Amino acid sequence: IAVNQEMLAELTAPPHVPTPIGRRKAKKLVVNMEILEQVGTMTDGTTYNYWTFGGSVPGSFIRTRVGDEVEFTLSNHPDNKLPHNIDLHAVTGPGGGAESSFVAPGHEKTFSFKTLNPGLYVYHCATAPVGMHIANGMYGLILVEPEGGLPEVDKEYYIMQGDFYTKGKNGERGLQPFDMQKAVDENADYVVFNGSVGALTGDNAITAKVGETVRLFVGNGGPNLVSSFHVIGEIFDKVYVEGGDLINENIQTTLIPAGGAAIVEFRVDVPGTLVLVDHSIFRAFNKGALGMLKVEGEENKKIYSGEIREGIYLPEGPGIQNMPTTDEIVEADIPAKSFDEQMEFGKQVYMQNCFACHQSEGQGVPNAFPPLAKSDYLNADVDRAISAVVNGLTGEITVNGVKYNSVMTRQMLSPDEVANVLTYVYNSWGNSGKVITREMVQKVKN
Ligand code: HEM
Ligand code: CU
Repeated sequence: IAVNQEMLAELTAPPHVPTPIGRRKAKKLVVNMEILEQVGTMTDGTTYNYWTFGGSVPGSFIRTRVGDEVEFTLSNHPDNKLPHNIDLHAVTGPGGGAESSFVAPGHEKTFSFKTLNPGLYVYHCATAPVGMHIANGMYGLILVEPEGGLPEVDKEYYIMQGDFYTKGKNGERGLQPFDMQKAVDENADYVVFNGSVGALTGDNAITAKVGETVRLFVGNGGPNLVSSFHVIGEIFDKVYVEGGDLINENIQTTLIPAGGAAIVEFRVDVPGTLVLVDHSIFRAFNKGALGMLKVEGEENKKIYSGEIREGIYLPEGPGIQNMPTTDEIVEADIPAKSFDEQMEFGKQVYMQNCFACHQSEGQGVPNAFPPLAKSDYLNADVDRAISAVVNGLTGEITVNGVKYNSVMTRQMLSPDEVANVLTYVYNSWGNSGKVITREMVQKVKN
């Protein structure tokens, strides 16, 4: 391939998509994707530590054409805590690229692939525990357009459903850690479009004008739930079933599998607010899977004669139906006055900072996060354990006879918080019962 045929891919955050490929020839397409772990808003008053491809959930939209040679560089930001990789369903090759892209924080990896099959494909992280990486938001869409491009339309948007599992119930306030057990049980607290409740409602609604044709690239990251994608007040003129070549017409609701996608197209004929839902309807009105397409323009009484009110479904809302509790906030740097207080404060720190990886009973996650319960590694050396928390830990270690070779980044905690959390860990789950003080922590901190 000649050098002048190389081009940098335009990447976009949802609900936007890059410029259509049109009639361009196959090229070498350079994709630079950055992984960012960052706290964002799940719903009013509730935050979540999202793991993202490109800083958004879903991750940046990638637009290619069949025959492109994609040179893909995956960078893992140095502030991130974990290694990640990428499995693109558009790739023909081992792990969809996962094997060649496994990358630790502060590193980057490059691999390349040829787009052989046109279609709309999901990409996602495939690092163990895979379900946890996907559940934290590590998915997105890559479009491979056919030769000559998709037919022109007036508006194109990017929408992706995902289910989230939080320690607290739907609507519980504060930073909510991931809950492994709820994820295994497929008991979602939030089911949303584009990463959060309200990402596509109110001021964030997508728009079109009467008479325009609209194309939605709809994906489903899962990790668990299948979407019954429906637009209230509209019929899909065309659905590219499962994102492939098969076109179905005149569809009310289309199934989008976890790890799958569909392209839906329709012309908007009358003004009003169309409501995008997962028609497993409690998810829409009680867990967040609700978006809006606002259509402006002239009324057409022949097509629809009645009154059209905006937000007709809003009174029920993407409902937060429980009163929030605010009593779980940890006060940093208030020294514990007794062992009992150290245990109490330490447990709070644990639930906010360690639980997601080391789990509620310190049991860890096989092949990914070592146990803290009855951990020989922990009990053998206090300074080493403190160091893992305040300075981070990488490289091969053996815990209770099992090898781990991963990364734990340093935890952003005050010396008192570290003393409390480690006291809690040492006095739980069959550990040796040591008490850690602020002074012991300060001695070990680099
Ligand atoms: C290792 C404690 C947060 C991932 C360890 C170890 C300890 C420890 C004592 C040494 C091995 C063992 O005894 O099992 C803590 C505490 C945390 C915390 C007290 C909270 C303040 C986290 C988080 C993650 C994580 C949030 C994941 C994002 C890991 C990993 C290792 C490890 C991957 C093994 C590192 C290696 O292979 O070298 N942790 N941890 N930890 N932790 Fe944590
Ligand atoms: Cu990941």
